[in-house]
Amino acid sequence: MNFKNVSYLWNEHDADKIKHDEVALLIYRSNLLGADLRLTNYGGGNTSCKVISKDPLTGSETEVMWVKGSGGDLGTLKKSGLAALYTERLRSLTNVYRGIEHEDEMVALFNHCIFDLESKAPSIDTPLHGFLPFKHIDHLHPDAAIAIAASKDGEQITKELFSGKIGWVGWQKPGFDLGLQLKKCLDENPGIRGIMLGSHGLFTWGDTAYECYINSLEVIEQCAEFINSKIAGKTTFGGQKITSLEGIKRIEQAAEIAPILRGLCSSQQKMIGHFTDDERVLEFINSNDLSRLAPMGTSCPDHFLRTKISPLILPLLPTEDLSDTASIKSKLIPEFVAYRKMYAEYYNTCKHSNSPAIRDANPVVLLYPGIGMFTFAKDKQTARVASEFYINAINVMKGSEAISSYTSLPRQEAFNIEYWLLEEAKLQRMPKPKALSGRVVLVTGSAGGIGKGISKKFADEGACVILNDNDQNRLNSAAEEFNAKYGKDVFTTALVDVTNKETINQAFNTAALYFGGIDIIVNNAGISISKPVEDHTEKDWDLLYDILVKGQFLVTQSGVKLLRKQGFGGDVINIVSKNALVSGPNNAGYGSAKAAQLHLSRLNAAEFGPDKIRVNTVNPDAVISDSKIWAGDWAAGRAKAYGITVEELPSFYAKRTLLNEIILPEDIANACFAIVGGLLNKSTGNVINVDGGVAAGFVR
Ligand SMILES: NC(=O)c1ccc[n+]([C@@H]2O[C@H](COP(=O)([O-])OP(=O)(O)OC[C@H]3O[C@@H](n4cnc5c(N)ncnc54)[C@H](O)[C@@H]3O)[C@@H](O)[C@H]2O)c1
Ligand SMILES: [Zn+2]
Repeated sequence: MNFKNVSYLWNEHDADKIKHDEVALLIYRSNLLGADLRLTNYGGGNTSCKVISKDPLTGSETEVMWVKGSGGDLGTLKKSGLAALYTERLRSLTNVYRGIEHEDEMVALFNHCIFDLESKAPSIDTPLHGFLPFKHIDHLHPDAAIAIAASKDGEQITKELFSGKIGWVGWQKPGFDLGLQLKKCLDENPGIRGIMLGSHGLFTWGDTAYECYINSLEVIEQCAEFINSKIAGKTTFGGQKITSLEGIKRIEQAAEIAPILRGLCSSQQKMIGHFTDDERVLEFINSNDLSRLAPMGTSCPDHFLRTKISPLILPLLPTEDLSDTASIKSKLIPEFVAYRKMYAEYYNTCKHSNSPAIRDANPVVLLYPGIGMFTFAKDKQTARVASEFYINAINVMKGSEAISSYTSLPRQEAFNIEYWLLEEAKLQRMPKPKALSGRVVLVTGSAGGIGKGISKKFADEGACVILNDNDQNRLNSAAEEFNAKYGKDVFTTALVDVTNKETINQAFNTAALYFGGIDIIVNNAGISISKPVEDHTEKDWDLLYDILVKGQFLVTQSGVKLLRKQGFGGDVINIVSKNALVSGPNNAGYGSAKAAQLHLSRLNAAEFGPDKIRVNTVNPDAVISDSKIWAGDWAAGRAKAYGITVEELPSFYAKRTLLNEIILPEDIANACFAIVGGLLNKSTGNVINVDGGVAAGFVR
């Protein structure tokens, strides 16, 4: 078969090397399937194989099923992600099965069937594989198959398209009973090559890993071709109603609205945002059918678990003037209130006596016609994945509508999945959020010693970071370091000159587009010039004041604008210097600029207090490690001022301190974290010296 809609990735040479190891072949096949998102969505689906092994308890031969365990993604599946169970024991659970009301209790019993002691916890889909007799089985969530599975005439279409060779099992929550239904479908339809699960996905199988792979690809290709033939020449989603704003203007509009949306979505918990103006999204959100299809909600459980039952459509024109936050909020707040009310009603009408408490009622997916889609979640990865899943849902709606009409899952069924006790238990097992989870941080000059140290500390504590500097090379190497350590969901970069308003605004736009907004702004960028007054040029003076004082002012001004749009407070931390308080020789420009930074911090603290924006100062001293400042003339200048050599500086500074300590970038980072970590929330206008103790620098 010639595949046009799926990727055929099987490599004979690679497969040949593991041809005697069925489990290795299962992992190989799973990775190939997971590499093509058209075959299954991220984290979706599972695969299995059954092999004969020696039972360590009896020494006799027994059949063992290896199946993807709970969690993880097919694309990166390893042996440690598989559960291995005695097939016979799993099947014998029918003897103790008390009926569909009690099927959740079966999950604990799966553990009694475990063969391999290194097994991952068996997932809820385990019986779906266990009750089918086939050696290799794929369960996938391809958009093309779900489009058929979620359409009004899905059963009929499946029957005709595959001439009865694909069975049909109507929507049912995954679990023990669905396993029995699959077996029943096979018994009633001998010779079928797969089963379509209504509103859910696909089961396909084969005698070997390769046959199973080919069967899955062929069935999905056929679904996709059928849908394409029906889409061709038709207007999709009832035709276009709204025209997108063009290119750069669209992005600017998105950046402008994002912090307002983030503020509203974070009424219970700080959320991180993601934005996309993918053309598949624009086609849907600009269409006539948007208002009919979006409220119906998504169908595949995987989709709505990530995206919530339905998105919120923003009542704004693409060209809407967004400059007056208050008036935009007055348009949006009633929509949010209505959404939360709708969600609470859904919860209250569907809940059972033992359901977990209602979760955050704010929307996850926000659609702005003509602009794009915003998603908000507890971290960037979750927000990004929610966005990808809503694109899957759009693909499904498009396909369903082309071949028949789209149907979503009944609300009660959606609720039973969303508030499933097993799903709740999974959420409870997740690691607790870190101190700065859900926060976005911009530290100026973060390619430098102290700035990078602060950014790292904040990322370690769960924050998202906008790395920025005016030194492109240093910024690139900081980005490389962050990519290796934290990955792309934790940071993004921006080239910023703190004396240039345009680049500052662009950096905050990046923060808004990439993460939804900003929480913590750290003014750290700086240079230093140490000269006696007679050598100090006007140019030196202006440079110092431009970067240190005006830079701090401009960055704060631009950042606070964003904080105010969000409306939930925030933090400004200014990295000043002991030199703001202590007088010494050859330091007129730098020292007085630092003093100006310090007083500016206090003035800002006084002004921003009513908006719950706190402004605090950290005064470092003698942080020599990794500092560009210390690599230059500054060190020579200071050494000269004290009558010592450059090499003698670190020990000179340490000895000069009350605690006799060398100060590291991490020490400054820890002080910044202390300010925002949660224990000092009622402090503003404060100064923390991190200098090993210099009596002359004590704050009076
Ligand atoms: N290192 C110390 O001993 C010490 C002591 C007291 C105060 N400080 C202050 O700490 C801050 C950080 O210093 P560091 O030691 O990490 O120095 P650093 O030179 O390693 O880092 C400063 C960073 O700011 C960047 N920068 C300079 N001008 C900029 C501009 N116009 N726009 C954007 N970025 C710019 C630099 O490229 C550099 O990456 C500075 O404000 C400094 O005055 C440092
Ligand atoms: Zn599934």
